[in-house]
Amino acid sequence: MTATPSAPLHMIDLIRKKRDGGGLDAREITFIVTGSADGSIPLEQLSAWLMAVCLRGLSQEETRDLTLAMRDSGEKFSPARLGRAAVDKHSTGGVGDKTSFLVAPIAAACGLAVPMISGRTLGHTGGTLDKLDAIPGYRTALTLSEFEDVLARCGATIVSQTPALVPADRALYALRDRTGTVESPGLICASILSKKLAEGLDALVLDVKTGSGAFLRERKDAEYLAALMVATAEAAGTRTVALMTDMSQPLGRMAGNWIELVEAMELLSGKRPEGSEDLRELSLILAGWMIHLGGEAATPEAGLARAEVALANGSALRVFLAMVEAQGGSITVFKDPAGFHKPGAVAVLSAWDSGYISEMDTTALGWAVQRLGAGREKAGDPVDPHAGIAFNARRGARVEKGQPLAVLYATTPAMLPEPSELLRDAIRISAAPPDFVPLVSRIFTRENAERHLRDAVR
Ligand code: URA
Repeated sequence: MTATPSAPLHMIDLIRKKRDGGGLDAREITFIVTGSADGSIPLEQLSAWLMAVCLRGLSQEETRDLTLAMRDSGEKFSPARLGRAAVDKHSTGGVGDKTSFLVAPIAAACGLAVPMISGRTLGHTGGTLDKLDAIPGYRTALTLSEFEDVLARCGATIVSQTPALVPADRALYALRDRTGTVESPGLICASILSKKLAEGLDALVLDVKTGSGAFLRERKDAEYLAALMVATAEAAGTRTVALMTDMSQPLGRMAGNWIELVEAMELLSGKRPEGSEDLRELSLILAGWMIHLGGEAATPEAGLARAEVALANGSALRVFLAMVEAQGGSITVFKDPAGFHKPGAVAVLSAWDSGYISEMDTTALGWAVQRLGAGREKAGDPVDPHAGIAFNARRGARVEKGQPLAVLYATTPAMLPEPSELLRDAIRISAAPPDFVPLVSRIFTRENAERHLRDAVR
């Protein structure tokens, strides 16, 4: 059925069209986005449409239309009056990925404005907002004027979408989390970019995960997503790069809520704990790109050097603490992070064999973290700030039988057995060490993204 341009639209027709492999035009996509933002389309119809999209995919044009319609579904922020370039970073989702707590204050300390709209736990991946909620008093839901005020005072702010900012993503994100419809390049691209474009950014750095913990595990799918996001954001006028980064193991040694903040604070305080090297390195690389694209360094390498100084001289730490206080959070909890950590139950997983950690199923590890209480079973459930896993050994490490591999923190003792088993099954110990996997394997810029997309559809 082909509708005339002014004919009324019906959600059932759009679901059937996508189910049967058809393409939707900008008007049809705007209808769906408006209906998800204002609640006029029932959730069962939105869920059916999301599943049809997951199975049938979105073309590049549909993805662009969806991204722009979602961006325009609410108020937008205009950072021009701040007098600093507005730059942000966003990742496609990972386990133990706490780079936001480092790159936002580092970039702000280097002269940029970082208006970061983040998400909650999605599928097996952790959510920046759920981690920040572990700080007593910290408010992630700011009004637009509070958001502007924190940004002007501190240089960085990390907030949730408000009902006013990108309401369509707020509705669709929660629904995707509950309906197994996260893993779609078009939906991920539109979800991430709608928020980023609504921030009125000058430049954006994307961290596209690859490997066993990525939403898109196939390398070619992750590359397609990276190129798609760069091309879509550039077409909307935002300088964008995408770094393909390793998620074949959790980033750093902590995965959870409060414990991730503690690890980030150690690095912000200039410490270099064993097991956090990859987190530090990736944060510096991402911040280096932000500083470069924001015009504060001639090259990404020069940006990285500036980022290192901001970590070493404490200026990034000062920005982070100022931001926490400005958003109502207590900074005294950081004086005694171990004392504040009060998990309901603790268990240790010891090596069952001697050898090398050769593989980690990071998606399964992520689900283990969620089921310890760090994530939610259904929308609206509370999360436990103290739940999570501290890893003592990384991929490639030599371990001896009986050596502690990880410490699990759960809300209650009854919540320990399932994640313990998931964790045990997710880690492989072998006689030989695994192949080396680079932390950053490829970079997409506007120059090579279009070419990649053209080759991908051929
Ligand atoms: N992060 C987002 O904001 N949206 C997604 O769909 C995936 C990761």
